Amino acid sequence: MTKEVYLTGITTTGTPHIGNYVGAIRPGIEASRDLTTKHFYFLADYHSLAKNEDPDKISRSTLEIAASWLALGLDTEHAYFYRQSDIPEILELTWILHGMTAKGLMNRAHSYKASVQANVESGNKDPDKGVLMALYSYPILMAADILMFKSTRVPVGQDQKQHVEMARDIAQRFNHHYGEVFVLPQPVIGEDTAVLKGLDGRKMSKSYNNTIPIFAPEKALRKLIMKIKTNSLEPGEPKDTDDSTLFDIFKAFATPEETEEVRKLYAEGIAWGQMKQKLFEYINDHIKPARDEYERLIADPGVVEAELRKGASKAREISVLYLAEIRDAVGIRRLG
Ligand code: TRP
Repeated sequence: MTKEVYLTGITTTGTPHIGNYVGAIRPGIEASRDLTTKHFYFLADYHSLAKNEDPDKISRSTLEIAASWLALGLDTEHAYFYRQSDIPEILELTWILHGMTAKGLMNRAHSYKASVQANVESGNKDPDKGVLMALYSYPILMAADILMFKSTRVPVGQDQKQHVEMARDIAQRFNHHYGEVFVLPQPVIGEDTAVLKGLDGRKMSKSYNNTIPIFAPEKALRKLIMKIKTNSLEPGEPKDTDDSTLFDIFKAFATPEETEEVRKLYAEGIAWGQMKQKLFEYINDHIKPARDEYERLIADPGVVEAELRKGASKAREISVLYLAEIRDAVGIRRLG
């Protein structure tokens, strides 16, 4: 049996928050300790151009995301850790795949449809108003990311599942037309990976502006935790763990035994202020060693740059050779 190949990308917009940590970074780093499978983690910086973002923010986000994975202990000897834009073969493949992608397939992409829907609802004459080609063909770039490294399994959130299915459709059509060139990928939707709630009780997401950055400095971390929404139950009144953001976040970090203890404290009526302090102390202790390393890396971006370059040259040992095969398959060939 061939080895499973896991691959996932992180778009370089925003500062990594504890929702990213619990949902993607921590499980990714844990999975990469399995030496019987291959792992590719990369910074999808070209994907960040699908919306007009501020250039300095994109570059800052690239540094912050890379430094976070490194500080949290990703083993870059075993896992491939690179920046998409350092692998030019991915962009070449993106164009080749354009030749096997039906426009109609892209019309059905959820993110594109959501933009059209918003235009229609706001009464715009042009349903495509504000839609960039980079947004429209985003799934093709993502297919190139996935197919370039013969990924078999792609861990993503529910919102990205359709994109992985599209990559599979495109690969299938290509194979049908040109022969068995691509490996068909499958989305992996983590069932037990927690979706954390944010400060306001909605899903933690940078689009809701309700996040807690993983490496917020101690004071800022405390301040943010103090802002988490609770209800108006008084100290001494028993509290429900089911509908408590504080409890959910605690549970995402703590051991099952510690979680049980806190469940008891809820039943006994712990005051919200006290619970917030407890959560702050717990997360702070948990994150502190990695935070020190993160701060060191942010202050010395050359170290991060060198890691990414090392990862890219490892990844290109695969992509350069494979792209030559793919070009040959479609008829882009030397003449003699
Ligand atoms: N589009 C993904 C997201 O926004 C990021 C991404 C880019 C990705 N390329 C990928 C994920 C390839 C998995 C595989 O979350």
